[in-house]
Amino acid sequence: MDTQSQKLLVTAALPYANGPLHVGHLAGAYIPADVYVRYQRLKGSDVLFICGSDEHGVPITIRADREGITPKEVVDRYHAAISESFRRVGLEFDNYSRTSLPLHHRISQEFFLTLNRKGFVTEQSVQQYYCITCGRFLPDRYIEGECPHCHRQEARGDQCEACGRWLEPELLVSPKCKVCGSPPELRSTKHWYFRLSAFQEQLEKWQASKSEWKNNVREFCSGWFQEGLTDRPITRDIDWGVPVPLPDAEGKVLYVWFDAPIGYISSSVEWAQKRGEPERWRDYWCNPGTRLIHFIGKDNIVFHAI
Ligand code: MF3
Ligand code: ZN
Repeated sequence: MDTQSQKLLVTAALPYANGPLHVGHLAGAYIPADVYVRYQRLKGSDVLFICGSDEHGVPITIRADREGITPKEVVDRYHAAISESFRRVGLEFDNYSRTSLPLHHRISQEFFLTLNRKGFVTEQSVQQYYCITCGRFLPDRYIEGECPHCHRQEARGDQCEACGRWLEPELLVSPKCKVCGSPPELRSTKHWYFRLSAFQEQLEKWQASKSEWKNNVREFCSGWFQEGLTDRPITRDIDWGVPVPLPDAEGKVLYVWFDAPIGYISSSVEWAQKRGEPERWRDYWCNPGTRLIHFIGKDNIVFHAI
């Protein structure tokens, strides 16, 4: 292909709108992406450079609880602050969107419904901690207790920050609700799972064809394939996020890592709409000749590569 006229879709990881941007973020993902985009444009490539704020997820609701404000107030504050930081540093995306937009909610729900229609989403009953005082099911990070490995107090339900091990809330010794401090009880509830296991063979083949991927990314994926891909829950019990678009799903939202990567697409759709050419995003996303390049941090690998 003539590199002079190559179509490139460049994305930079959507920053979480639960805190300000740091120099580390800029140096790690955003400035390299910006340098790359400017270089490609000088060479004559046709580049679409996309980003936006990642505005859902439990870290945002936890901050809102702690400050006694709403999640919407949290993301409004940090979306504005992050946008301003990018402006002052001179970073110019073609579009900087945000995932709380109705457009993003609609597109994420369409993805969920399409997967569901095709049989790649299953409903499962699970045992989950419920706080009687707060009257609700608790997501992993709303539970803390003693780490079963290093015995540090106040380990989180998803990970112990002292020893770094991944946890399940049921593994914590004397678990407590992070909001009110009372001990939660296990109750049964339901969640929707994405049948990632169904894609093992296809994804392994696909990865094998990507010789240009960075080594650490390829090795990371190989590790996952070796362990075997497992089905993953893609819903959570919080009232901030993209509502699960099914009749019997009250109080359930899509897991933030389900909707956030779709933000690259919804941000591109918003870009096209703002230009008055609403279908123009397809030139990039639906064009087999486009190269898609993600600038991300280490802990984002699995969600982009697999
Ligand atoms: N908000 C995530 C982080 O800061 C990155 C999201 S990238 C996306 O680690 F693909 F989900 F958009
Ligand atoms: Zn509680």
